[in-house]
Amino acid sequence: MEKAKKSFYITTPIYYINDKPHLGTAYSTIMVDILSRYRKLFGEEVLFLTGTDEHGQKCEQTAKKQSQNIKTYCDNMVENFKKTWKELQIGYDIFFRTTHPDHKKGVQKALQIIYEKGEIYKGTYEGVYCVSEEIFYTQKDLINGKTPSGKEVITVSEEGYFFRMSKYQEALIQHIETHPDFISPVERRNEVLGFLKKPLGDLNISRPKSRLKWGVELPFDQNYVCYVWFDALLNYVTALGFGQEGSDHKKHFKKWWEQAETCHLIGKDILITHSVYWPTMLMAIGIPLPKKILSTGWILNKDLEKMSKSQGEVIHPLDLKDIVGVEVMRYFFARSVPMGKDSPFSYHLLRELGNSELSNHFGNLVSRVVHLIGEHFDGRCPKLPLKKKVESGNDESLKLLILKTEALAGTVKESVFKLRIHWGLEKVVELLRLTNRFLEEKEPWKKVLTQKKEAGECLASALEVLRVVSVLLSPILPKSCDVLLKRFHCEGQKLADVSVWGYLQEGQRIERGEALFPRLKEFQNWS
Ligand code: MSP
Repeated sequence: MEKAKKSFYITTPIYYINDKPHLGTAYSTIMVDILSRYRKLFGEEVLFLTGTDEHGQKCEQTAKKQSQNIKTYCDNMVENFKKTWKELQIGYDIFFRTTHPDHKKGVQKALQIIYEKGEIYKGTYEGVYCVSEEIFYTQKDLINGKTPSGKEVITVSEEGYFFRMSKYQEALIQHIETHPDFISPVERRNEVLGFLKKPLGDLNISRPKSRLKWGVELPFDQNYVCYVWFDALLNYVTALGFGQEGSDHKKHFKKWWEQAETCHLIGKDILITHSVYWPTMLMAIGIPLPKKILSTGWILNKDLEKMSKSQGEVIHPLDLKDIVGVEVMRYFFARSVPMGKDSPFSYHLLRELGNSELSNHFGNLVSRVVHLIGEHFDGRCPKLPLKKKVESGNDESLKLLILKTEALAGTVKESVFKLRIHWGLEKVVELLRLTNRFLEEKEPWKKVLTQKKEAGECLASALEVLRVVSVLLSPILPKSCDVLLKRFHCEGQKLADVSVWGYLQEGQRIERGEALFPRLKEFQNWS
């Protein structure tokens, strides 16, 4: 009987739509896409959710400033997000909007459950509110009258409904302590535990309609809408059918929320909402917590600040795509930005990386090998040396090449699970370098006329490396690797196929084609 596939549910944060996507927001989405494609390659069943966070004051104000009907404004911005993700080769399964009727139903259901448990009470909120972050603060939290990240606040005094979040403080600490993988990286886990050392307050979960109309109405008081973070966080379960009737919804929810490995990728600026508000909300509703919260760092602008509209220059991914293509951008994020760490972006850094690793190490190796096979072997794969024979012989360079090639799939898999993809890619590049050196040493171009068998074995070996590398880089460079694997007639490979030497067949057609990673030119902007 076939073993049931493991299932993996991964989400991006849902994006505010007060602006079109920039490189910072594209980063989270690209990383989720990369992780989800790797998990599929590893044989798992994957569900990838992304979407938009459309309620709240920030969105209402932006639409008003532009004198637009709010729903029309949201619809247009959503199209913008969808178009961007499509052009960046993002293969999401669900794009969910918080204005979807199923979401509203799910949010009201969650509120009703908590209300009936007696864990929502009416009170008065006296404090400050940051519209940009949509977060309530107390005066004590502010630094020079602004939020810790430097955003403006407004004073708020209003009656509202509070969720007894404080009741869950101990249970949350215990959960984090007994589940070391719940929040990563470890610095972020420690940050949350540090935050939980102070007494946790209750959470204001409502806004009076007299102040804000654009939200989900509270089921127990029609004069209020739900606080936007309480509404937004619930998207992770309402998109799976939480709050809907019917056995299909229930089955779907069970499979993807209760049984799957559930994982939220978020930026470190939204760590507390995801690691404190969200789990305590779930405890109150009575459904399981997500298995993992992965916090990424920031893509920094040229002044080494978080790239964001309010912080000065932002780069729009489609503008960058027009200059460099999508795949160099995807590669840059996976290779140059260690997960969890901040990292600067500049065109110069991207160009250096793309030209050195993609054009030189990868692209040139492909051109060299395919060209020689085309010229001297009639475009057909020469005979690949047998691993057993190599092991008993004395060709140490080839022995090493086989060893490293066979180990690569395991290394890359480990790097994905340990969230150290940049390190896994370093190993891929090391293998490409080793293969280039192997060719320099063997000089097949000199041997093709006099020692054709040796030249052929050497070229077939390099091709075998390229096959393995193309499969293992396909989650990052989906189009180029797909093209290459088609040229090699090696489509549809699984992880097991790239963990052993000896897949390529003698005589198999190897097609020539255009260079895949043309060298990037100098460009003055975004330096
Ligand atoms: N709407 C909330 C999230 C609700 S999730 C239930 C939100 N939206 S956002 O549009 O402001 O940000 C979405 C994500 O983009 C956040 O994780 C944020 O960290 C990420 N990024 C925004 N700018 C970024 C960088 N410059 N670098 C990396 N990630 C960045 O917060």
